Amino acid sequence: NVTAPQVRARKVAAGGDPLVMVTAYDAPGGLIADEAGVDIILVGDTLAMVVLGYEDTLQVTVEEMAHHTAAVARARPRAMVLGDMPWMSYHVSTEETVRNAAKLIRAGAGAVKLEGGAKRAPMIRALVDAEIPVVGHIGLTPQSVHALGGFKVQGKQADAARALLADAQALVEAGVFAIVLEAVPDEVARMITESVPVPTIGIGAGPHCDGQVLVWHDLLGFQDRLRPKFVRTYAHLKTEAVEAIRRYAADVRSGDFPNAAESYHLPDGVAETFGRD
Ligand code: KIV
Ligand code: NA
Repeated sequence: NVTAPQVRARKVAAGGDPLVMVTAYDAPGGLIADEAGVDIILVGDTLAMVVLGYEDTLQVTVEEMAHHTAAVARARPRAMVLGDMPWMSYHVSTEETVRNAAKLIRAGAGAVKLEGGAKRAPMIRALVDAEIPVVGHIGLTPQSVHALGGFKVQGKQADAARALLADAQALVEAGVFAIVLEAVPDEVARMITESVPVPTIGIGAGPHCDGQVLVWHDLLGFQDRLRPKFVRTYAHLKTEAVEAIRRYAADVRSGDFPNAAESYHLPDGVAETFGRD
């Protein structure tokens, strides 16, 4: 398995290969991602939006996250399974934070991720004290959608960029082994990447991070929901799936499916006597 210490050592500037992370939400997804050779499979709280049909990530619970984390873990991937802590699972107290993270670890995650900077330091320290490796996540933190006033690029002004850098350093001091940077200017991501000893993993954060992450449904073209410019679509599986199901429907309606080869038959001799009495 890919471990937290192995991930922590993957600084590109120190000669490491860029980290590859993709989200997945079920066992076949975990198998496919692992067979493709990714380093980390994130069971993201994007589950809420791309799988469960909610408008934002605030609706998903730690029980639902554990349910899907367990499904991905059943694929027994070589990649690290990273469990995403949902909104309200790490905001109330350090005790609740540790207990909720333990649900994801017991479901099969090797580490957890949570959103926010310096203000999360006490929670991160408590998790690390409980032997749970933690990934930070700053920049556009989708669980802050109401506080931020929408899904917007962060750190575009000098003050905001400096605050992000301070947050990254606070995360490192609290003990994270990697940091996700979401929707920040590439210059800011580069500055953060150069100034922290743990790898940065970008999404909409330019090419200077120590790794990249994309959401399963975006990468594979499983939906035509609004597509931010940082998404590169490597397949068009929604179009393919609609086309496939359309052909199936047409074959059923025309009587072409199923044909004789796709049907079971009585053994020789039985058909003749069948129905006679
Ligand atoms: O939940 C998620 O998919 C994420 C990634 C976008 C980093 O947090
Ligand atoms: Na997330």
